[in-house]
Amino acid sequence: MSKITDCLINKKNHCPPVWFMRQAGRYLPEFRKIRAQNKNFIKLCLNSKLSSKITLQPIKRYDLDAAIIFSDILIVPYALGQNVKFEKNQGPVLSNIILDKFLNTGEDEFKKKLQPVYQAISITRKKLNKKKSLISFVGAPWTLIVYMLGLKVEKNILNLDLFKKKQEEINLVLKKLIDILCIHIKNQVNAGADVVQIFDSWAGILPEKYLDSFCYKPNLQLVNFCKLHNIPVICFPRGLKKKYSRFVKLVKPDGINIDYNLSPEWAIQNLNGTCIQGGMNPNILLLDEKTILKEAEKYLSIFRNYPYIFNLGHGLLPETDPKMLSKLIKFVKEYK
Ligand code: CP3
Repeated sequence: MSKITDCLINKKNHCPPVWFMRQAGRYLPEFRKIRAQNKNFIKLCLNSKLSSKITLQPIKRYDLDAAIIFSDILIVPYALGQNVKFEKNQGPVLSNIILDKFLNTGEDEFKKKLQPVYQAISITRKKLNKKKSLISFVGAPWTLIVYMLGLKVEKNILNLDLFKKKQEEINLVLKKLIDILCIHIKNQVNAGADVVQIFDSWAGILPEKYLDSFCYKPNLQLVNFCKLHNIPVICFPRGLKKKYSRFVKLVKPDGINIDYNLSPEWAIQNLNGTCIQGGMNPNILLLDEKTILKEAEKYLSIFRNYPYIFNLGHGLLPETDPKMLSKLIKFVKEYK
């Protein structure tokens, strides 16, 4: 059993295991080199050899307890018929959803399209030390719907009129997504992943009265699927503020990633003893060493007697200095 699964399942709180969201990514020069030669990001995610190589890049550099497979949450809408492009400084751009095609994509066709992802997991598992977890992931249905139907105006605001206008379509898409995401989880685990993380990055833009239908219930269905198959699962419903507590009560994931707007002291008191992951603000990693280690120490001391996985409150930023990350990991590993 890896340190991370031991922490999630048995609530062991040894010196906390550590990994980072976006640990394989643009802050690493060796990633940028591959990326420069592969302009099409989705194609890169579907290149098993390169995707496995990128997954292992941070493992080569650092003493991390997990690798996270190099892919993207938007690979799922891609496999269901939408074009997905990543424009520089613009975020993802998706072509309009063709509902008929989307609803009629069967399990076999879906699996075939994403075979390279599963292949990458299988290659990576063979190369990865057995004590380290290989984390797979999916976007939660709501977060995928935000991208698939273009429901955001500007960066962090829900287009409420469009959201209300599209209720019927949203409900159809939601139902299909839950089924398909369970299949994607199952396939990733069969290929060799031992933990699943569910990213609900846009949970926080939902008005409260919609949280049940679009956040708690869909996450619960995915978590129950994982439990039925004995797969440890971590949820990240970013931006829920105090409603993190309700989320944990209803969804009961093995682990919960907190964002940096949540106080770690509050989290310990209100999250029912659930294994907590992350929290530290990734922007702090852009500051000087002393400030970084002081903030890390804050999290480590607060969670000293609590099942905790060291990570951040969101992904590593592209501006992060790889040398600072090395110092941070060393500090976490040597913390007593
Ligand atoms: O190292 C890892 O964490 C594994 C790989 C991973 C990526 N995306 C690779 C990626 C993971 C787990 C994700 C999750 C993801 N993708 C989320 C949930 C987490 C979060 O950030 O809230 C979301 C919302 C996406 C969708 C997405 N993918 C966006 C909004 C963007 C563009 C903005 C950005 O952060 O770059 C991407 C592109 C993306 N996904 C990159 C990487 C390494 C950058 C691609 C590039 O090189 O241009």
